[in-house]
Amino acid sequence: MLKKVKKIIFPIAKLAFNTFHLKQRKYTYSGIEVSISSEVFPPHFTISTKILLDFIKPLNLTNQSFLELGCGSGIISLFAASKGAQVTASDINLIAIEALKKASIKNKIPVDVVYSDLFKNINKQHFDYIIINPPYYPKQPKNDKERAWFCGENFEYFQNLFEELETQSVTNTWMILSEDCKLNTIKQLALNKGFLFELLLEKTVYKEKNYIFSVQKKAIN
Ligand SMILES: C[S@@+](CC[C@H](N)C(=O)[O-])C[C@H]1O[C@@H](n2cnc3c(N)ncnc32)[C@H](O)[C@@H]1O
Repeated sequence: MLKKVKKIIFPIAKLAFNTFHLKQRKYTYSGIEVSISSEVFPPHFTISTKILLDFIKPLNLTNQSFLELGCGSGIISLFAASKGAQVTASDINLIAIEALKKASIKNKIPVDVVYSDLFKNINKQHFDYIIINPPYYPKQPKNDKERAWFCGENFEYFQNLFEELETQSVTNTWMILSEDCKLNTIKQLALNKGFLFELLLEKTVYKEKNYIFSVQKKAIN
């Protein structure tokens, strides 16, 4: 039933979204404002960004090292930094990176902004938190804009992510996913590299279940 409703609503929502998203749009959370171009992942309609923002809100992030891997607009990074975290924000989309550098100055919130394909350009250090809102539709992205949505036909984004994550020193790796994605495939790719998903939050918004998972190295017996 839900799938049928989605099939009817999706083309209408897509048209409305494309029209809305043509313009540079502002997004505000907790007094922090970012300006988002049509090339960058929009937190307005998608609910994942807001769920993550609300999830980290009660945390004490003072002096915590925090990486937002694939930061898009960077609203999560700016918010975490406003709560005292030492934030690195990375993305493969140069337009997002340049916009976030400006937003960091405009909001007077310092964030280390790094252009990077996954962990490739990120200085080796321990992170208390790595936060990931990944692209998860299995299709080859044609450009940077599409990288916000598509993870490659064979889930290459996740294959590379879990491979690189193995070499990182991190306390908490949190990832948001939804029932709309191939959860079992992603969980299996994680398991292939020795990672398990532990559910931290389940939240239903507009009849879609969203999950925040802690991605943890499987204990060796
Ligand atoms: C779903 S968006 C999430 C954006 C932001 N974290 C948020 O929650 O609003 C996914 C982001 O990951 C970035 N991305 C995709 N592939 C990447 C890669 N290989 N390395 C770094 N960032 C990547 C995209 O450019 C996009 O900004």
